[in-house]
Amino acid sequence: MKLKLCVAGATGNVGRGLVAAIRKSDDLELVGAVSRTFKGQNLGTVLGIPELQLTVSETAAEALAAPTHVLIDYTKPDVVKRHTLEAIDRGVHVVIGTSGLTNEDYAEIDERAQAAKIGVLAAGNFAITAVLMQRFALLAAKFVPAWEIIEYSGPGKPDAPSGTARELAFRLAQVREPHVQHPIAETQGLRECRGGTVNGSQIHSVRLPGFSSSCEVILGTPGEKLTIRHDSINATDPYVGGTLLAARKVSGLVGLVRGLDSILEF
Ligand SMILES: NC(=O)c1ccc[n+]([C@@H]2O[C@H](COP(=O)([O-])OP(=O)(O)OC[C@H]3O[C@@H](n4cnc5c(N)ncnc54)[C@H](OP(=O)(O)O)[C@@H]3O)[C@@H](O)[C@H]2O)c1
Repeated sequence: MKLKLCVAGATGNVGRGLVAAIRKSDDLELVGAVSRTFKGQNLGTVLGIPELQLTVSETAAEALAAPTHVLIDYTKPDVVKRHTLEAIDRGVHVVIGTSGLTNEDYAEIDERAQAAKIGVLAAGNFAITAVLMQRFALLAAKFVPAWEIIEYSGPGKPDAPSGTARELAFRLAQVREPHVQHPIAETQGLRECRGGTVNGSQIHSVRLPGFSSSCEVILGTPGEKLTIRHDSINATDPYVGGTLLAARKVSGLVGLVRGLDSILEF
């Protein structure tokens, strides 16, 4: 039997790439698609795939009325938590690509998923080179005690920091607390200029035309520094393979798991 998937955000940048890849696969079937703008329309017509027949739903709740194994969410920060909880309550596993969730949101999702014995896999970045960047940074943090994170996106990104940076800070905190020589709270002048503190790491978010999505961590010791940086050039392709891998594996999980590396073999 094919794995039945619903894509919330099927008409967006990443969603379109997912729809195309799902259609090309032998083991996956698209049974639901969500977009408010194109509600009630045929997804195939909207995306220019004439042979695809699937009516777009306005809400995830509506789309999940059809039997579904996994919800994949690439929408917006203000709705992803609601979609996730609705899916869990219906016994549907979830892959979260959308950024913007806080540690508190993740804790709530984990609690609900654990209780329902449902798997949720959330990754700040589903691209394999971003996963490697995170791995290299975790290794470096074992040897270099001080670091800060800078992330870059286009001007339209509504949330900050990026999911990539937020997850990187979360994972680095599991290695150690970064050393900060002059306490951030005692900054003279504008404290905001020192960035936001996430799990102990300072994150600086840049939003400018000319950027797709980049994230770098700079680790410093007296006399030397190491920069580890990931750049996403294309808005879609890097994320599709990792997201569909997660969709194939998420039913084997219980509760929330953060990071694509959790299901990769290193
Ligand atoms: N984890 C990763 O690897 C990764 C990679 C890339 C992007 N992202 C994140 O994924 C999210 C989506 O990125 P994108 O570039 O694909 O965005 P996008 O092009 O703006 O697409 C967003 C999609 O979500 C739908 N949507 C928005 N609000 C909705 C709502 N309230 N209810 C239902 N559907 C809604 C949109 O359709 P309508 O507006 O018609 O509803 C559209 O189909 C962002 O948070 C981005 O940061 C994560």
